[in-house]
Amino acid sequence: MDLQISGKRAVVLGASRGLGQAIAKGLAAEGVTVFAAARSVDKIEAWSADMDNVHAVQLDLGDLAQVDATIDMLLEGEGVDIIINNGGGPPPGTAQSAGRSDWVSHFEAMAANLFHMTNRLLPKMKERNWGRVISITSSGVEQPIPNLALSNGIRAAVVGWSKTLANEVAGDGITVNVVMPGRIHTERVDELDAAASKRTETPVAEVASKSRATIPAGRYGKPEEFADVVTFLASERASYVTGSRIRIDGGAIKSI
Ligand SMILES: NC(=O)c1ccc[n+]([C@@H]2O[C@H](COP(=O)([O-])OP(=O)(O)OC[C@H]3O[C@@H](n4cnc5c(N)ncnc54)[C@H](OP(=O)(O)O)[C@@H]3O)[C@@H](O)[C@H]2O)c1
Repeated sequence: MDLQISGKRAVVLGASRGLGQAIAKGLAAEGVTVFAAARSVDKIEAWSADMDNVHAVQLDLGDLAQVDATIDMLLEGEGVDIIINNGGGPPPGTAQSAGRSDWVSHFEAMAANLFHMTNRLLPKMKERNWGRVISITSSGVEQPIPNLALSNGIRAAVVGWSKTLANEVAGDGITVNVVMPGRIHTERVDELDAAASKRTETPVAEVASKSRATIPAGRYGKPEEFADVVTFLASERASYVTGSRIRIDGGAIKSI
């Protein structure tokens, strides 16, 4: 299948490692010019060293001035056709332990600054009558994950925003979707398993094995499997998919 996106321009947030890196590589392989952003710009430069169509951008999503500077840089060119809203996950913790300042600071980095960036980049998409806005959230928006209160709460806001925007811009050739990873094997998942191992004083291999056993597919997903679905959603071929939430979780969410 020809995805018909060669020559498009994309900004991929949270692209120094993990899901963002895999998505950036997936889009670049389709001939998309990718602006890959994260705080560790050196890591992006390292993995993209032999790719002419990937440009590393240093960006802290928690810093509005940096977010605006990145948007200005993108708009000085032709803007972008594809936005991948991604970034770091918040620290674990219960709803009762999350303080007001935790909610505010993580909401800025995980939601408000992404909404702001999308709003500023949308007019160029409308001019071209083509655009893709894809937000990476978590299976926790359908089935809240214990001890991840900040993630469950803030990502639910991203879903509400995404659906509202999808309805507003569907007539402009712009699709807006949410993708929900279950457990995709990135460094973050290894870090979470290591933290659980320490907390429960259980060997990490046992923690990971128990976690895998809760997934009908019996394994963690690969970043490339996740990126393939996102790349398809970003393509011309997914032009009638909008306002949707797509699970990529090996069957982990129990409801239909
Ligand atoms: N992997 C999974 O199975 C899974 C499941 C559910 C949800 N998720 C969520 O999906 C997202 C991506 O997952 P992942 O596994 O790829 O996570 P990851 O390995 O921790 O990668 C997060 C990426 O976001 C960047 N980032 C973090 N804070 C940032 C900031 N303030 N400004 C700009 N960039 C920032 C990181 O780069 P720098 O540190 O260089 O900035 C990194 O490139 C995360 O939000 C994660 O919580 C993942």
